[in-house]
Amino acid sequence: MTHFPIDRIASWDRFQRAHFINSLSGFKPVSLIATVNPEGMSNLGVFSNIVHLGADPALVGFVNRPREAAPHTIRNIEAGRYYTINHIHPDFLDRAHQTSAKYPDGVSEFAAVGLGEEWKAGFPVPFVEGSPVQYGLELAEVMPIPLNGTYFVIGRILHVFMDERIVGADGLIDLYEAGSMVSLGLDAYGTVMPHARFTYAKPDRPAALV
Ligand SMILES: Cc1cc2nc3c(=O)[nH]c(=O)nc-3n(C[C@H](O)[C@H](O)[C@H](O)COP(=O)(O)O)c2cc1C
Repeated sequence: MTHFPIDRIASWDRFQRAHFINSLSGFKPVSLIATVNPEGMSNLGVFSNIVHLGADPALVGFVNRPREAAPHTIRNIEAGRYYTINHIHPDFLDRAHQTSAKYPDGVSEFAAVGLGEEWKAGFPVPFVEGSPVQYGLELAEVMPIPLNGTYFVIGRILHVFMDERIVGADGLIDLYEAGSMVSLGLDAYGTVMPHARFTYAKPDRPAALV
């Protein structure tokens, strides 16, 4: 195996270094986060640093880059407190990726890239039309990370929408069937094939397939 010490990685050009470090932590659950600004205009961005924080209470967090780099989503969440997270399907991947472009204030990425706003009764932020798994959240906490100027934004899950047929009898969501995509680094995306499912691991017995 080749050894890549950090001083060698640090000497690379910034895009090469970013691709390398961004892909190192693995495939990520890429989604579109929708928000609405105080004037009522929607905003949409692609995010992949999304992490399950706990099931009870049901919390999901995501990392927002420094405000200079990605200002709109975090600002709208702080002001309006509600947002939606929408899985990406291959049918609209190119439009989803395009939402990462730096559109100016006053331009909704929904309109700019050609994705439909799906408004649902009782929730103040649109979901993404055609997204196979959609959930609506309320802001719980924004944790600044002074180390690099990023933010960990934690939300409480309030509403979840998907075709009931992809919800297994035991509750596991069949995201393979849904076609939910993953991302790698800054610009690579993939679909996922099922590989194995195991029974609950116990110290006194070997891993066993379900
Ligand atoms: C595949 C992919 C994943 C991304 N993941 C994140 C992320 O997790 N956090 C983030 O702040 N920006 C992420 N970005 C960049 C945002 O999409 C981009 O900064 C966007 O313009 C944010 O928009 P905003 O200013 O409306 O918040 C990602 C971009 C791509 C292409």
